[in-house]
Amino acid sequence: MKDRYLDFVNSPFGASVARSIGLPQPIVLRRHAQGRPEFGGIAAIGAGPSPTLFEPLITLLTSIGMTSVAHESALGWLPVAARHGAMSGRFEPRSPGAAPNDRVQALIFDATGITDSTQLHALYSFFHDAIRSVAKSGRIVVLGRQPQSCTSPRAWTAQRALEGMTRSLGKEARGGISSNLVQVEPGADIEGALRFLLSPRSAYVSGQIVHIDTTPVTQPADWNQPLAGKRALVTGAARGIGAAIAQVLADRGAHVIGLDVPQAQDALDQTMLALEDAWPSQGAHTALVADIAAPEAPETIAAALLAVGGIDIVVHNAGITRDKTIAKMTEAAWDSVIDVNLSAQERIDDLLLDQNVLHAGGRIIGVSSISGIAGNLGQTNYATSKAGVIGRVQSMVEPLRARGITINAVAPGFIETQMTARIPLGLREAGRRMNSMSQGGQPVDVAETIVWLASPASAGITGNVVRVCGQSLIGA
Ligand SMILES: NC(=O)c1ccc[n+]([C@@H]2O[C@H](COP(=O)([O-])OP(=O)(O)OC[C@H]3O[C@@H](n4cnc5c(N)ncnc54)[C@H](O)[C@@H]3O)[C@@H](O)[C@H]2O)c1
Repeated sequence: MKDRYLDFVNSPFGASVARSIGLPQPIVLRRHAQGRPEFGGIAAIGAGPSPTLFEPLITLLTSIGMTSVAHESALGWLPVAARHGAMSGRFEPRSPGAAPNDRVQALIFDATGITDSTQLHALYSFFHDAIRSVAKSGRIVVLGRQPQSCTSPRAWTAQRALEGMTRSLGKEARGGISSNLVQVEPGADIEGALRFLLSPRSAYVSGQIVHIDTTPVTQPADWNQPLAGKRALVTGAARGIGAAIAQVLADRGAHVIGLDVPQAQDALDQTMLALEDAWPSQGAHTALVADIAAPEAPETIAAALLAVGGIDIVVHNAGITRDKTIAKMTEAAWDSVIDVNLSAQERIDDLLLDQNVLHAGGRIIGVSSISGIAGNLGQTNYATSKAGVIGRVQSMVEPLRARGITINAVAPGFIETQMTARIPLGLREAGRRMNSMSQGGQPVDVAETIVWLASPASAGITGNVVRVCGQSLIGA
């Protein structure tokens, strides 16, 4: 659905009207576009005491073609960069009125060595000096440790404090700039997560905390085609977010098995044919017609997937709403939402796992919602089901670990689809604007996040819930 306000404030006339009467001025977010370089520009590096990630960081920046400058909090960066033959220099705070091309594309702060609240001052020094230097649609990434893994209460406390800093930066930065915290276990591979969080693919992901464990990672041979040779099931693929997931999966090299209900068969066929037209070298993708809530669905789906040799990625995207306050809600509305959005997924996963249809090293990604985190008026059934999706992720991490299967969820905020087009105008406008990006997300924003979690480089990311909500004010 079109966001007319966004178009208006990005026209010369609209921009001047919005400026003169103080209206919010969301920018058109920079998203991935075919043929446009994904990375470039300068990253400014800051750090607390004893940073641990300079080596993998300089390797990453070199491989994605970004140069760097070191803030005075991170002067140890300069010899590391020099050792890698990488161009670097000292960061100079941006003087007022400096040309926009003086700006940096990313601020990266290594906080992994912070073990005491007094050391948090380094965050102040860096971000106080650097925040005004970030370009529009720039990126802020803070690297820390998982608080629970810290051995001393003081280290735990200081690491937990990073969440408040990172989230506040996301709210202050504006201009499409995102701010995220990555909690890195010692020795974990950060490349996949940082490539995503520094790229335009994460345009609508802000205020998030991602945890990476030390599971060994196989880097893709080609970072543009990380899913080459993988097969992916997407439920609810006929339209909306599911169709976008199918497109990004195919774009990144996967063979897609798109599933939807019989009533949506025409739309599903069109979506799957469009994939073949866009990426002819991959051949035909597969359309599978089934109602996931039907009692026979797990067997039907497992048989269809076994017929193509099993599956590597399962994306549980199909979902429905039947909104009413609890007093007015019919029993059927409660039952159908819980069944489609939650119980059906459990039944399907259980069979796919029992019969080894989902290969070892596979990926399961559930689609939750910020309603499942915050609750929502008129959505007791929906919010219950979507909170259950998060519970499913958390409860399955350990049982799946031995098979190298990761399980994560994305929790979209307000995304422009037919589902949100049905929301009454006033509520819809509020949903769109009440986030740090002052706009709704696009289906592709959810799809890009799912594809990142599905990638081989995300082997160390499991049990996470990543909100794709532009840092919505609703929920955590
Ligand atoms: N749009 C948003 O803002 C938003 C926000 C948070 C979460 N979500 C979640 O994202 C997912 C996709 O949402 P959307 O906006 O694209 O919705 P949508 O209604 O546009 O598409 C959902 C698709 O799922 C299919 N589907 C429904 N029931 C099914 C069943 N029993 N079996 C098989 N397929 C079924 C539908 O036919 C449809 O093609 C849903 O899980 C939704 O709850 C959406």
